[in-house]
Amino acid sequence: MICGLVVLLIASVVNAQNTCSNEDCIRKPWCPEPWKKSQCLGSSGELGTDSVLATGNEKITWHAGMASHSHYSLISNRTALFVIDAQKVYSACPEGEPAVESLIADPSTENFDGHSPLCCEKFGSVITNINRIANHARSLGVPVFLHSHVYRDFDGDGEVDNCGRICDFDALGWTGWPMAWNLWNAAFPWHTNVYKTEEITKGFDANFETDYYAEKSTYSALTKPVLKKLKLLGVDTIVITGFMAQFCSVTTSRHAHDLGFRVVYVNDANDGPQLLQLLSGVDENEFIPFSLGIAVADISSTDEVIENMKTAFTG
Ligand SMILES: *[C@@H]1O[C@H](CO)[C@@H](O)[C@H](O)[C@H]1NC(C)=O
Repeated sequence: MICGLVVLLIASVVNAQNTCSNEDCIRKPWCPEPWKKSQCLGSSGELGTDSVLATGNEKITWHAGMASHSHYSLISNRTALFVIDAQKVYSACPEGEPAVESLIADPSTENFDGHSPLCCEKFGSVITNINRIANHARSLGVPVFLHSHVYRDFDGDGEVDNCGRICDFDALGWTGWPMAWNLWNAAFPWHTNVYKTEEITKGFDANFETDYYAEKSTYSALTKPVLKKLKLLGVDTIVITGFMAQFCSVTTSRHAHDLGFRVVYVNDANDGPQLLQLLSGVDENEFIPFSLGIAVADISSTDEVIENMKTAFTG
């Protein structure tokens, strides 16, 4: 009897250990707390390549003078919301009206304030709009994907292992910044996701139980694991929000379009760095949506997305 109990106990201990040496049970660095592990899709720099079969027959028609156009309907069981790179690298602005000089001030500057040179002047309003769309999406069962651009040192040699060609570029070297790509290096503070908390009101209000979380090292958020999940869910329409407008937002929009997804780019829920606008004299929030709207994506405002997003069961 005692013997049987001991055997049973040992068996259950071995069993528990077995379950816990399982891959699924170890929390990977790319699945940070407090994400529920089942919601983490991985860290990937491999682009998804399987096309989706375009369904439906809705046309985007421009109105006279090309001032506006019609919109896709956003049916809840075929739509996903992408929130791209809501990270500190885009939220940490210097005090006051950002100017080139204050934006490029590097970490060795006296009294360095921890800002990022890629701070986006509209981070706060964009996040507010994203939270409005995400709340509405969740209420209709539309899946929300939070993407995050992070370079990690997987083998512990002190160097990031998944930076790809972006590490060829040192755009800010002249300013004293230690290679601009370090802004997404997991070893530095700027890569962290900006979540809404009691102190941080302008943060993404994540649902760590039901939203999905995926890290990427490519400009497109449509990596292999993300595309696999979208296909499983039967998604053929993607709503694009986040940062930076002229890099990950636009590349994801174009990649999704090329794969056959219907793309909705939300023009007041994406933004790019103030520094680029100051240096180039081009407002990305004018140029990008206009170009995409011609024949890549439906350009909608936050209000329009919320109005157009409907349940599949209208009865
Ligand atoms: C979505 O719901 C509609 C209406 O119930 C149904 O006809 C359609 O097959 C569903 N599509 C998917 C991808 O589940």
